[in-house]
Amino acid sequence: MDDLLTRQGNKCKLDLEWDDRGVVPEVVYPDVEFLFRRMNEVTLKSVDAKAGEGILDVGCGRGIDGVEMAKCGAIVIGLEPSIVMIAHANNHIAANGQKLSLVRGVGEHLPFRAKSLDKVVCKGALDHFIDPAKVMSQMAAVLKAEGRAIIAVANFASLGFRLGRMVWWLRKKLGFKDTQRRMPWEVPSDHTCKFDYSFFLCLTNRYFQVEQVTGVSLFFGFPWWGLCLSKCPRGAALAVLNLLDKVASKLPMLSDIVVIKCKPKPEQS
Ligand SMILES: C[S@@+](CC[C@H](N)C(=O)[O-])C[C@H]1O[C@@H](n2cnc3c(N)ncnc32)[C@H](O)[C@@H]1O
Repeated sequence: MDDLLTRQGNKCKLDLEWDDRGVVPEVVYPDVEFLFRRMNEVTLKSVDAKAGEGILDVGCGRGIDGVEMAKCGAIVIGLEPSIVMIAHANNHIAANGQKLSLVRGVGEHLPFRAKSLDKVVCKGALDHFIDPAKVMSQMAAVLKAEGRAIIAVANFASLGFRLGRMVWWLRKKLGFKDTQRRMPWEVPSDHTCKFDYSFFLCLTNRYFQVEQVTGVSLFFGFPWWGLCLSKCPRGAALAVLNLLDKVASKLPMLSDIVVIKCKPKPEQS
């Protein structure tokens, strides 16, 4: 496995020591906190883990979702290439007293028998993969015919990002200097590709039958939005975020995160 990982890493710049420290900004505004919390909640609700189910989490990171699914009695396997994230996951699993298996590997080559798993989860990781299409086909292949995949990814065509780009363009036209910091709608350097609602749906449709598409959170990334919310009383900020989240759930093409629940296409299973 190490040989395979190293070869892939050399060829495609897979970061075998990727660390999520530094991903979350130093100042966490209410919109960021809300977005991450709701993404986790909606994903786990869609998974609906049951006792005895075999669930694979591809790109499991710290194993936070894995631990929650294990608490429901599921038999969870977390797959992760980064040795650093595996160490974080081991700590998190031990701290929570749960049992789940961690496998060091890549989603492009899932080391599991075809049609052997009840569910596959992949949250916030698809845009980190060297070959997302290959991972999708592998996830479909390892699922039982009646199995389900739950995949969540950031939507770079969200309303917040679209409006944010326009405001920034206007700001520049008005002669304001560009800021040095990366804007939220700019693709981070550790992403291998840019996902948006249409691309995500199109890719999913190639390997799966889409059952449910849910949008999570609205307006993240709009300039000064987080700062404005942080100045409001906490309850009021939360009420606004919850309201926008309800709108997002019905309009996933505009939402900040898209969560898809799907089953393998008959020819795939
Ligand atoms: C942003 S993190 C998401 C972690 C976790 N799913 C979560 O929601 O907290 C993306 C993860 O994907 C992992 N990853 C990157 N390339 C991968 C690949 N080819 N196969 C599987 N996982 C990969 C990274 O090491 C990282 O831990």
